[in-house]
Amino acid sequence: MASVTLEHVKKIYDNHVVAVQDFNLNIKDKEFVVFVGPSGCGKSTTLRMIAGLEDISEGTLKIGERVVNDVEPKDRDIAMVFQNYALYPHITVYENLAFSLRIRKMDKNEIHRRVCQAAEILGITEYLARKPKALSGGQRQRVAIGRAIVREPQVFLMDEPLSNLDAKLRNQMRAEIILLRKRLDTTFIYVTHDQTEAMTLGDRIVIMKDGFIQQVGTPQEVFETPHNLFVACFIGSPQMNIFNGKLVKEANGYSVNLLGMKLNLDEEKCALLRKNNVSSMDVLVGARPEHMTVCFDNKASAINGMITVNEMMGSELHLHVAAGDSKNTILRIPTIDLTPAQRASLDAGNSIAFTFPTKVIQLFDPATEESLLYR
Ligand SMILES: Nc1ncnc2c1ncn2[C@@H]1O[C@H](COP(=O)(O)OP(=O)(O)O)[C@@H](O)[C@H]1O
Ligand SMILES: [Mg+2]
Repeated sequence: MASVTLEHVKKIYDNHVVAVQDFNLNIKDKEFVVFVGPSGCGKSTTLRMIAGLEDISEGTLKIGERVVNDVEPKDRDIAMVFQNYALYPHITVYENLAFSLRIRKMDKNEIHRRVCQAAEILGITEYLARKPKALSGGQRQRVAIGRAIVREPQVFLMDEPLSNLDAKLRNQMRAEIILLRKRLDTTFIYVTHDQTEAMTLGDRIVIMKDGFIQQVGTPQEVFETPHNLFVACFIGSPQMNIFNGKLVKEANGYSVNLLGMKLNLDEEKCALLRKNNVSSMDVLVGARPEHMTVCFDNKASAINGMITVNEMMGSELHLHVAAGDSKNTILRIPTIDLTPAQRASLDAGNSIAFTFPTKVIQLFDPATEESLLYR
């Protein structure tokens, strides 16, 4: 078991692509950290530098207290699981699991112990005698994870290990990885482009874009206190609604005007704005679809719009609404408390009034896209 520390790590490929910029992170012993971000943001490159599969152009990488920039991959005491879990097709599952240990000339009894234990942890004991082609996709992926487990490494690296599985299996394997982590109790670094995977698996999430870390935090922190517009929109599904608004600094607080509605900000938000020396300005206002409420009585101060699409998702409706210059605002409305009349009023083509509590809104500077609240 070990910590992993990256200090000012940078990667420039031979073709001058700067894939990773000034990456600073201290991953604690036994922590489960997820790198998440859109395709091409540098996740795999960072993981491969930790594994030793790519050279580090600048900066320092430590595993435990040891600087490992120039240590061979095989001497780093880590194991990696890839998206394309290339199993050896012509040998059995047992031999696939044993392979890396045999290369290391490990004692036969020890190999047997480790293979049986990994198979047991992953629930693949009954398939040990089979060849990979006689396994389902999920079973093959378990074997791929098993090949990492038998090494008993200090650090597990996983690069989109579930991306090749269908949606149902992916959810199931995600839950299995949570259990696996509890059993192995070691350091995990996990790469995914899927924010749901990141949120459910990570103790901490590292959100990346264009080679730069955007924010590091617990799932709750990145969800509730995003540092910039990118993080706010990347985390959460459907994504956060963004409105153009005007922030007004008043005698004893702040208010926001947007789409004909005036919102007085709560004291907590006012205190944050004061602390950050924010004056009256144009702002981007963020509000999540699940925090929106429909105003059926139409009395309260509300935003008026027109429902363009009504998606019935089972326990909730996803309403797409055009309101002012905001053409596609999404509202997630639970169906359980709706009367038949209320539900009928939410058909596409109808007008709608909606609002949201100021407690949950986000405020961004339109020029820098940085949060005016959290930094
Ligand atoms: N071997 C390589 N040579 C040159 N450029 C590369 C190489 N591998 C990746 N890149 C580039 O580095 C950037 C980051 O890639 P990668 O780390 O694979 O992103 P991610 O895993 O987040 O999708 C991309 O612009 C990609 O095109
Ligand atoms: Mg990748």
